Amino acid sequence: MNKDIESIIVTSEEIAEICKRLGQRITNDYKGKEIVLIGLLNGSVPFMASLMMEIDLPIQTEYMQASSYHGGTSSSMLVQIKKDLDYNISGKDVLIVEDIVDTGATLQAIIELLNNRGAKSVEIACLLDKPTGRKVQGINPKYIGTEVGNQFVVGFGLDYDERYRNLKYVGILKQEVYKK
Ligand code: IMP
Repeated sequence: MNKDIESIIVTSEEIAEICKRLGQRITNDYKGKEIVLIGLLNGSVPFMASLMMEIDLPIQTEYMQASSYHGGTSSSMLVQIKKDLDYNISGKDVLIVEDIVDTGATLQAIIELLNNRGAKSVEIACLLDKPTGRKVQGINPKYIGTEVGNQFVVGFGLDYDERYRNLKYVGILKQEVYKK
């Protein structure tokens, strides 16, 4: 285990099971359809890679980058689109792939954008859901890996000041790391 991690809350084995379970559900739910997976950079990269391989359907992969965070441990409600899609999603069934849903502000802004561009359907798949952090209404991910409490977590894509994204598990940082 990385020396800065106090405890592991989702192991790499559990993450593999989550991806398998969600991949099977998505495969069943979208049978006969072609979906566009939109990974939100940077945090969704490991989850996107693992999840897409468990989906047994023709898929297209796209990426967007939005920011509502400024390198700290609490969300601000301002959302800025830093990287947009390269592809027209009008008439497409879209599945947004996200590492964690906290306030829901990022997803609210992106869903509004995709709906305005004529997406046929928009759903959310997230590795982690932090329901106690929700500040916007109506953001209900259809595919949730597991819920976490009101704590700041890192690993498997999730960062603290751009570090720890490469951990194979999700864990909680030691308090002393924040004080550095
Ligand atoms: P939201 O717009 O508040 O839902 O923020 C979602 C984004 O905030 C995620 O994609 C993460 O980048 C970041 N975030 C929220 N909670 C955490 C956390 O516990 N650890 C690391 N990043 C987080």
